[in-house]
Amino acid sequence: MCGIIGISALPGSLPEPLGRVIRRCLERLEYRGYDSAGIAVVNGEALIVRKGKGKISELAVKLKFDLLDGVSGIGHTRWATHGKPSDSNAHPHLDCLEKIAVVHNGIISNYLELKQRLEAQGHTFRSETDTEVIAHLVEEYVRQGLDLLDAFRKAVCELDGTYAIAMISVLDPCKVYFARKTSPLIVGLCSGFNIVASDIPALLEYTSSVIVLHDGELGYITPTEVYIERDGVPVSWRDRVRTITWSLEMATKGGYPHFMLKEIHEQPLALTNTLTGLDLDTVRSVCRLLDRTDRVFITGAGTSYHAGLVGEYLLTELCGLDAHTFIASEYRKYMNIADENSVLIAISQSGETIDTLMAVRSLRKTGCKVIAISNVIDSTIPRESDHVVYTRAGPEIGVAATKTFTTQILTLTVIALELARMRERLSSTEYSKLLTSLKEIPRLVEQILRIHEIKAKVLARYIKDRQNMYYLGRGLGVPIAMEGALKLKEIAYIHAEAYPAGESKHGPIALVESGFPVVFVVLDDYYVDSTVSNIMEMRARDAYVITLCPVKYAQKLSRLSDFLFELPNIDYRLAPIPYIIPLQLLAYYTSVMRGLDPDKPRNLAKTVTVE
Ligand code: G6P
Repeated sequence: MCGIIGISALPGSLPEPLGRVIRRCLERLEYRGYDSAGIAVVNGEALIVRKGKGKISELAVKLKFDLLDGVSGIGHTRWATHGKPSDSNAHPHLDCLEKIAVVHNGIISNYLELKQRLEAQGHTFRSETDTEVIAHLVEEYVRQGLDLLDAFRKAVCELDGTYAIAMISVLDPCKVYFARKTSPLIVGLCSGFNIVASDIPALLEYTSSVIVLHDGELGYITPTEVYIERDGVPVSWRDRVRTITWSLEMATKGGYPHFMLKEIHEQPLALTNTLTGLDLDTVRSVCRLLDRTDRVFITGAGTSYHAGLVGEYLLTELCGLDAHTFIASEYRKYMNIADENSVLIAISQSGETIDTLMAVRSLRKTGCKVIAISNVIDSTIPRESDHVVYTRAGPEIGVAATKTFTTQILTLTVIALELARMRERLSSTEYSKLLTSLKEIPRLVEQILRIHEIKAKVLARYIKDRQNMYYLGRGLGVPIAMEGALKLKEIAYIHAEAYPAGESKHGPIALVESGFPVVFVVLDDYYVDSTVSNIMEMRARDAYVITLCPVKYAQKLSRLSDFLFELPNIDYRLAPIPYIIPLQLLAYYTSVMRGLDPDKPRNLAKTVTVE
């Protein structure tokens, strides 16, 4: 959802020319959007801007980003909201006199009225973006006699909506000004230079010391100084410096052709790290809170919503809780039933998705307590929640979530098991048995990756030429079917729909004709016979049946399937993690065989910070 970067550097302090450093940082933010990109630097008296439509790698060659140098610079990679992707709408945006350059992530909701006012004051706009008003507003206040910091502060005060902003100017060459409201922004502390950026991966090559900016903060960096204020009052930030444990290698492809494939293969490690790194005290406090509650809501967007559905199933079935999952952007109606006796579990890899954040803020107002499950330390949703349980998946760069999905499910499973034991709904023998199996999951995932990657590749050859597909399951197979369909849709651009298998005969089956691929996720003994009926119904219409099932049912189901993934026999309550792996691989290879880039699906962004 747009990535921004700003650097202020002493001459000679950067390992490479400023333009090249900004370009490299931007490449690590490209998962946030890739409609256009641009860089501006202040060099001597000059403000130099290069920007255009397209991906960073192409633009870097065309516009020679790497040759830019200077004392301060900003960069942007865009996911278009206001104004189509074009050269003129690409950031940075300038004021009339081309002395001020601004990059922005978010939406300025009152930009039309600000634009009209500024136009009436004689300002000329060059783009259709909301962002451009910021440069002209600052210019206007400088023209009225304010210094740059006062002008920036006054301009920011007038903005409604969401923003992370970085600004440079020839009027004060060494400073990069910044402001944050809702959209994420961090400061990276380096030696001889400082950086502001939308997210951690952008900084990893240069520092592991970061300050996460809070809503309403603004300030500036120089090569040796960080100034932050809130409501005009300076903020002391030294005790807010965090050391990031992610390594640079974690944010590179490490020999894999795509981040997504690397991240699929990282799952055994991500699961192990999450399991061993779970803060059990927090898990227990979370369980105590859940134990006392009348009603549990679970929310998230995209893949995190699907993890929530798995969580709902486990909390209901294992713990007997009244749990209900909703899509984060649909939070409004839940404000009517949430209260101080309810709990919301908010799941967000990034911790920044605005839909999930709005759900958290709205339900909190009712007195409802919030538990966040997130992969990014100190991100907004964890900070605004009562309890946080962190997954330890490491940075996820591929737009399509993979390792964060399985680590979210793992976290929810541990919570459900602990709570079930606390509520005496699991005997200690059952609990120990399930926990032992849970600890085996990283190994099972490794085994599935070894055995089924080739099979997924073979199946992708068939799938790549289809236009539609169904994913069906029952019970815990439903969210896995939903996630499998989402993966295929987002990166292979094949229309894929998921349904509870029983529902397939109430409409979806009308589309099925010879060769139509239908995936069945079978993971629960209870549903085997009813799912077999659904498979038969599909076969009778000549569908191409793809089945994922435990080895113990392989013989029975292989006769009914055109393609079979035989997966380990495991308690069905733990099966969602291993059972999604072949579907992640299938989506990945189908995307690659269709000549697409699975890391950068069109129109999508990884962290969605606009509603
Ligand atoms: C976007 C991404 C998805 C992700 C969803 C929620 O739509 O493309 O991959 O699942 O946001 O993101 P979150 O960071 O809140 O888990």
